[in-house]
Amino acid sequence: MKKCLTREDLRRDGAMALKRGRWGNADLYLFSQPGETWVIKDFSPCPPLIRESWGRLLVRHECGALSRLSGIGGIPELICVLDAYAFCYGYIPGRILRGTPSSMVEPDFFYRLEALVNCMHQRNLVHLDLRNSRNVLITESGAPALLDFQSSVNLDHVPKPFRQFLKEIDISGVYKLWKSKKPESMDMQRKSRLAAMNRKRGLWMLRGYPLGTRKAPRK
Ligand SMILES: Nc1ncnc2c1ncn2[C@@H]1O[C@H](COP(=O)(O)OP(=O)(O)O)[C@@H](O)[C@H]1O
Ligand SMILES: [Mg+2]
Repeated sequence: MKKCLTREDLRRDGAMALKRGRWGNADLYLFSQPGETWVIKDFSPCPPLIRESWGRLLVRHECGALSRLSGIGGIPELICVLDAYAFCYGYIPGRILRGTPSSMVEPDFFYRLEALVNCMHQRNLVHLDLRNSRNVLITESGAPALLDFQSSVNLDHVPKPFRQFLKEIDISGVYKLWKSKKPESMDMQRKSRLAAMNRKRGLWMLRGYPLGTRKAPRK
């Protein structure tokens, strides 16, 4: 990845605060140049311990996810890495799904969101935070976009038997949002898939995360 913007550019040309992070979250800024607007996700204001561990890790992690998904419409384009604590990616004008009245959501929105998530899965990556409607954006043309790949997982590193399970978590996130915003357009097959996934999720939460389970030591 190339190094492009510098902190000096941000200071000189001015960046607008988009979201102030809490102690463990990045601050987000908007940086505009003629014809383009970028988001800067910056962990440098976090407490030193968080910044040096979690912050560094998440910058590499989210940049890796965005590069893997490069070229998919509805996924922000990674522009560059500022330094170990911050990176810059494309701003997508629109509004987050959270708080958007159902009447403002296009009838085919959730079909397109499902297709977008499937497209992401074809690149062998899962998002894992799609139940959070702040991570789903409705673009100005009414199309879906995905944000925030902090909790994404590269399936190349996951044993095959768990991959489908993780994909289902994403799909159940889409269906949960679909059911809450446009239940009338959700068919029975998708409703039953959501119900089945919710049952599995309940078990998974009781038993713990499947990737974290280890075989009992031999006696
Ligand atoms: N590329 C983007 N285009 C438009 N809005 C964005 C973009 N990235 C972030 N945002 C806005 O900032 C909010 C927080 O971004 P997110 O990546 O989810 O950070 P956090 O880790 O703080 O949850 C989003 O809910 C959205 O409102
Ligand atoms: Mg988020």
